[in-house]
Parts: sequence; structure tokens; C-alpha cells
Amino acid sequence: MLLEETKWILKNGQEILIRSATSEDAEAISNHRYTTSAETHFMAREPEDGRCKVEIVRENLRQIEQSEREFTVTAFLDGKIIGDAGVTMLRPHLKWKHRAYFGISILQSYCELGLGSIMLQVAQEQARKNGFEQIELGVFADNPRAIHVYEKAGFQKVGIQPRAFKLQDGSYVDEIEMVKFFS
Ligand SMILES: CC(C)(COP(=O)(O)OP(=O)(O)OC[C@H]1O[C@@H](n2cnc3c(N)ncnc32)[C@H](O)[C@@H]1OP(=O)(O)O)[C@@H](O)C(=O)NCCC(=O)NCCS
Repeated sequence: MLLEETKWILKNGQEILIRSATSEDAEAISNHRYTTSAETHFMAREPEDGRCKVEIVRENLRQIEQSEREFTVTAFLDGKIIGDAGVTMLRPHLKWKHRAYFGISILQSYCELGLGSIMLQVAQEQARKNGFEQIELGVFADNPRAIHVYEKAGFQKVGIQPRAFKLQDGSYVDEIEMVKFFS
């Protein structure tokens, strides 16, 4: 599904647009993923994993667009993508249909302007409308900013996956699993 366009004001006064990315945004999304993967180690991908292939991103966006329940929450400033998030099903099976999964990336230069909190709010409201009963995410254990944003939004820590990630310097980072129940 596609979100309707909405306008928001960041803490620095800049006006941004939030809508869902469409297949036409595939190249920009691929570039955004590559850039954010290099800015921090908090993304699932390393730059060395390579750019997401535009055709694969396009097909993925097309499928999400056609889905009745899955969607992206993408933030634009003057037409440029500065943040991207997705709400997806973990599995299409009946036993899993109540669970939504959330992932987000924001360009470093637009962090701490309230954007993550706005995108999370939009994602939660739409996820609830789409019939999900809970929203889940995984976060690097050494990412206190993200954990703060999620806890402020009502997520709770429910588990830990030790050594979930191995960084390029050989060190390991745990993943904290978080969930927010809608009722
Ligand atoms: C994590 C992320 C989504 C948060 O979005 P954001 O737009 O930066 O967050 P907001 O501006 O809405 O809120 C930031 C909050 O974190 C707080 N914060 C900043 N650094 C912090 C720290 N080291 N420890 C605790 N809280 C911190 C800020 O004070 C602010 O809190 P407040 O709203 O109570 O004042 C964003 O920073 C991001 O994408 N970072 C890079 C990639 C990443 O970490 N992705 C998360 C993957 S799970």
C-alpha cells in the first residue's frame, strides 16, 4: 500500500514530506541504503556488501506497493530522500499475521531533528490500521540513541541475540529485540 503524502516540520524548522517510496524511487532508495550503511555500523549491511541492485529494489518496492498491509515510510526534503523506513510482515503465514517488523535509516546530517520519532509515529499508526497487533524491531545493543527513541515510543526490550553482528574489525555486537503491543 502507499501512504498518503503528509508534511511535517523538523526541529530546525525545515519542512519535509512523508510518503511511501514507489518503484520510481528505486535508484534513490538504493543510494540511500548505500550511504547510510557507510555512515554508522547500525545498519544490517556494510558498504562492502555492495549497493542494493536497483532492479531488485524496484521489484521489492513494487511488491510492497501492491501489498494490502506492508508499506514504506519515506521522508523527502526538497525531493531528496533523507530517511526511509519499512513496515513488513515477518512471514505471510496465519500464525504470524499479527506481527509487523520495522526498520529505519536516516541520513546522519538529519538525525536528532525529530525525524525518527515522526516516522515511527506514522509507521505505528498505519500498522495498527492495517490490522497488525504488534510492531517489532531489532537494534544494535550499542545504539543508545535508537533504543531511546523506541522506548520513548512505547517499545519494550524482550530479548537479546548475543553476537548477532560481526563487524569488520572482528568485534561482535548483540542485537536487542524490542516490541510494542498495540493492545
Ligand atoms: C536511530 C534513528 C532512527 C533515530 O532517529 P532521530 O531522528 O535521530 O531521532 P529523534 O530526533 O526523533 O530523537 C532522538 C532522541 O535520542 C536522544 N539521544 C541522542 N543521543 C542519545 C544517546 N547517546 N543516548 C540516549 N538518547 C540519545 C535525543 O536526545 C532525542 O531524545 P528526545 O526525543 O527525548 O529529546 C536515527 O538516528 C538513525 O537512523 N540513525 C542512524 C541509523 C540507525 O541507528 N538506525 C537504527 C536502526 S535500529
